[in-house]
Amino acid sequence: GLGSKLVGSGSAVPKLTISNDDLAQIVETSDEWISVRTGIRNRRVLTGNETLGGLAAEAAKGALLMAEVEADAVDLVILCTSTPDDLFGGGSQIQRDLGCKNAWAFDITAACSGFIIGLITATRFIKGGGFQNILVIGADALSRNVDWTDRGTCILFGDAAGAVLVQACNSEEDGLLGFDVHSDGNGHRQLHALATYDHAAESNGTRLFPPKRSSYSCIQMNGQEVFRFAVRCVPQSIEAALEEAGIPSSSIDWLLLHQANQRIIDAVAGRLEIPHEKVISNLANYGNTSAASIPLALDEVVRAGKVQAGNTIATAGFGAGLTWGSAIIRW
Ligand code: ACO
Repeated sequence: GLGSKLVGSGSAVPKLTISNDDLAQIVETSDEWISVRTGIRNRRVLTGNETLGGLAAEAAKGALLMAEVEADAVDLVILCTSTPDDLFGGGSQIQRDLGCKNAWAFDITAACSGFIIGLITATRFIKGGGFQNILVIGADALSRNVDWTDRGTCILFGDAAGAVLVQACNSEEDGLLGFDVHSDGNGHRQLHALATYDHAAESNGTRLFPPKRSSYSCIQMNGQEVFRFAVRCVPQSIEAALEEAGIPSSSIDWLLLHQANQRIIDAVAGRLEIPHEKVISNLANYGNTSAASIPLALDEVVRAGKVQAGNTIATAGFGAGLTWGSAIIRW
């Protein structure tokens, strides 16, 4: 049978850093409140002519270089994002920018679970045959959808991109060992950014025109519910993925969760009895970068030489939908 393995990673972040003290100038908050409640100190935000697609392409380029795979050997580009530059999708623009002339491309929208769902999707394509190299990119710019007057949400998010190259291999070399994924639309109202409609055309007396889509509302979140959901569901999901992989949690080398809140990370690690030294965290520097957070942190620890060939990494994403899922990776 066909297995799949990760053969490269890359990442990119915007230039501008916004610190907690900077935020304290625009909303009533403090460095202390934000650090204690979330672990976040800085985040990056797109400015000027930086684009989400630009970040995504840079991250993907890094993954191809590490893997020593040429752009024209890529068969498929999967862009996991909830904030594309184009409502019709951003994957094809990255395919063009990278020169992946033999690849087709599409987007996956699943907020903070996007990267895990993208990874699962890539392995299914490879298992089905006919795909050798698949780029999975997690990229988000939630700064575009944040209400910068809402201190409950604007302190949390940052913009970034991360990417991995997933390659077909024989099943003995399989590097994606187990998965688990869920949706529960009943929790949709806990975290969303709804499409808003301009009903002016309806209310001016004529019903000839359909209501126009005008934009999306800012992120609305019930922080405490999302917190409880993550701490309840993520450990169960990781345990299910470990079971599929046939690996006990004691032999995990690294725990890499979606970087939403340090208290969530600590609580999940505690429930799984994974010691502090095995927990990967970089959210102090970048905040919650949604679909980008897992590949961004992965790329950092790979390039730092912390994660080494053969290490087992338990990863999990969770967020809007509600969606959540886990992947057990052998690097
Ligand atoms: N600075 C100062 N005070 C604040 C701030 C702020 N930035 N934000 C809220 N407060 C106040 C509130 O108004 C409230 O005041 P009150 O008691 O006078 O009403 C008080 O602090 C407590 O507010 P809570 O919302 O109860 O604070 P909590 O301890 O739950 O922390 C937080 C809020 C950090 C958002 C937390 O709930 C959390 O991290 N939840 C998880 C959210 C998350 O990770 N979402 C993303 C996951 S999914 C995805 O990635 C898209």
